Amino acid sequence: MHTFVTYQLEHNLALIGLARPPVNALGQPLRAALLDAVERAAADPAVNAIVLHGSSGLFCAGADISEFGSEASFAAPDLPGLLLRLTQLDKPLVAAIGKLALGGGLELALACGYRIGEPGSRLGLPEINLGLLPGAGGTQRLPRLIGAKPALELMLSGAPIGAADALEQGLLNRCAASAATLLPEACAYARELVACQAPAQPAALYPEPDKGLPEDFLTRFREDHEPRWKSRLAPRLVLSAVEAACLLPLEQGLARELALFKQAEASAQSEALRHVFFAEREAGRVPGIDANTPLRSVRNVAVIGAGTMGGGIAMNFANVGIPVTLLEREGEALDRGLAQIRHNYGISVKRGKLSPAQLEQRMALLQGTLDYADLADADLVIEAVFEKLEIKQAVFRTLDNVCKPGAILATNTSSLDVDQIAAVTSRPQDVIGLHFFSPANVMRLLEVVRGKLTAPDVLATTLKMGRTIGKMPVVSGVCFGFIGNRMLEPYAREAHRLVLEGATPTQVDGVLTGLDLSMGVFSMLDLAGIDVNFLVRDANRAAIAHDPSYCRLGDELYALGRYGQKTSRGFYLYEGRNRQDDYEVVALAERLAGELHIPRRPIGNQEIHDRCLFMLINEGIQLLDEGIALRASDIDLVWLNGYGFPGHLGGPLYYAEQLGLDKVLATLNHYRKALGDYGQTWFTPAPLLERLVAAGKQRIERV
Ligand code: 3HC
Ligand code: NAI
Repeated sequence: MHTFVTYQLEHNLALIGLARPPVNALGQPLRAALLDAVERAAADPAVNAIVLHGSSGLFCAGADISEFGSEASFAAPDLPGLLLRLTQLDKPLVAAIGKLALGGGLELALACGYRIGEPGSRLGLPEINLGLLPGAGGTQRLPRLIGAKPALELMLSGAPIGAADALEQGLLNRCAASAATLLPEACAYARELVACQAPAQPAALYPEPDKGLPEDFLTRFREDHEPRWKSRLAPRLVLSAVEAACLLPLEQGLARELALFKQAEASAQSEALRHVFFAEREAGRVPGIDANTPLRSVRNVAVIGAGTMGGGIAMNFANVGIPVTLLEREGEALDRGLAQIRHNYGISVKRGKLSPAQLEQRMALLQGTLDYADLADADLVIEAVFEKLEIKQAVFRTLDNVCKPGAILATNTSSLDVDQIAAVTSRPQDVIGLHFFSPANVMRLLEVVRGKLTAPDVLATTLKMGRTIGKMPVVSGVCFGFIGNRMLEPYAREAHRLVLEGATPTQVDGVLTGLDLSMGVFSMLDLAGIDVNFLVRDANRAAIAHDPSYCRLGDELYALGRYGQKTSRGFYLYEGRNRQDDYEVVALAERLAGELHIPRRPIGNQEIHDRCLFMLINEGIQLLDEGIALRASDIDLVWLNGYGFPGHLGGPLYYAEQLGLDKVLATLNHYRKALGDYGQTWFTPAPLLERLVAAGKQRIERV
């Protein structure tokens, strides 16, 4: 039988080791075992102090996320109660924090009177990423330990801090010399505490957590931050809990925290974010590869094309210490590309995110060249040249000649057929699509496009490499636009059409940002470039455009040279950072509507919502049916990480499930009829959606 904890008595110390792999999540069985062990130590007169550690070295990643929303979440002993009990022991407790103390794991450490870390420890309260707040005393104990302001920052950012910062902030009392000496040093610390008769719980350093802060600190904080929180609930609850820490005695504060936590746990937003957490882990499970799939080593990388994408792609590797050879056609383009990278790093230096020395280290990892011979040794080559099949094929023919056997050859194409690119080489099994998103050094999404012949080890290696450079890799099959851009197409098409029918770009974008999407579709097109969008559309017009109104507004703006932000005019008019509707665009829409015999009418926000989003969702469901996406949650991840879809809605397909698949289907059918020929042309429900509704399914899966 698994015991979930280890228990050792060592010279009057009880060593309690959390032993629930892989991350010691504090589910009910571990909580129960921990409570038993602690009571045993409390009752044993031979025990003077307790050292709590992770038996495999890793301390604890928090509450068991899979329990949330079920009875197990608060099944006895519940976490707040267990931690309260720890604070009541009359023997000192030392938390030996190896590797991680996250969420409930950090709260567990906070309930111990003393904490020691090691150089690699990371401590944090990431609950906010799950739409939660710390719910086992963290919102009350942390402000009392380090003050209200740093506590709020830790809870609202959700990002962990390292041992050095934790020591400086007072979150750790000590730091061991190494991970290997953590446990012995923790024991020595416990003995010192016993020797000097230290109290089991030292007095709070900040009994009044907001002391010294301006009187209106919390009110101001709320006012300053609320616009950024949009409709997110969790940050507001965190703030309320910290307010309670400042205003109420500990016991009442803990009760308030518990009530707020339960509210967050029951919220639709948290449920959606929990879906995202598990979706991210699921995305790594890909048919045809598993833990036994061999990996190729990627010690050096080459990038071809030092333009917008190539430069950003190269930065990702330099950021993690992997040397990159950057190849261009001409010296001038190369110099420009390298200068742009230096400029981008310079911005990080100005913002204090990078030191000047780190900038130089990263630049030193980037080697420019005009000569393909310098790519002979590259383990991974990523091509990011112009989006033309012939140009890319020419590059791949050359790569086939110069690259060593076993090198992975990747293309960053956003719309071309990866199989046609692979076909010009003698090694199509080594070819894969790695579709980064702009700006490539910032955006988290990486579509990994598996060609017909891509070898499993190439796929496995690039998925792992994607995570190494901090991306969220999602596997896609080959089709026009892959997952993300293919779904963007009907979504943008509806937005264009709605403006012809009587909506304005501001109204359309307002509906989308009202849902907390980070950008409306027209702002996005203006940013990406109406010209870029036009050229992709034009190259594929025969395949996708079946009606004369298809993205006509975008076509006309292109013809007028209104390319978006870069020309200060696009769907909007830009004056500096200000953006406004342009009467010329409205007039253009009126003229086009007249020419195309499209009646203009007031358009309601609900119609904008339904037509844009349900078209997006419908295409996603079709992609799943075609096997381009492996699962609905992968599609969610694409839109969450590449297109600014809000996490608290869980992604477009999860959102559809919450709205009700039957409702989505009925609405599509409604517009199919209501919009005449246009509706007949475009509003065909995906057959999979029809099958799911017919089968009474609530979840989107392949049936
Ligand atoms: N609960 C349940 N399962 C968890 C978990 C948790 N807190 N943390 C990780 N896991 C699981 C993962 O689902 C995964 O399972 P799988 O192998 O079956 O897919 C496995 O542990 C390994 O996780 P990763 O694949 O993510 O491994 P990494 O090494 O890349 O990352 C990690 C490890 C940094 C711990 C990362 O998993 C993580 O960030 N976990 C979540 C931490 C967190 O959010 N904690 C707060 C929980 S909420 C809370 O504590 C509420 C409290 O205040 C009351
Ligand atoms: P870009 O025009 O900024 O850069 C392309 C670079 O490639 C230029 O510097 C050019 O000199 C160089 N180049 C062209 N032919 C070359 C060759 N034969 N050998 C070496 N260098 C060559 O273009 P961008 O935007 O960086 O796009 C590159 C690729 O990335 C395209 O396939 C594009 O579809 C794709 N992409 C672009 C995104 C974007 O938002 N810009 C997003 C995702 C993918």
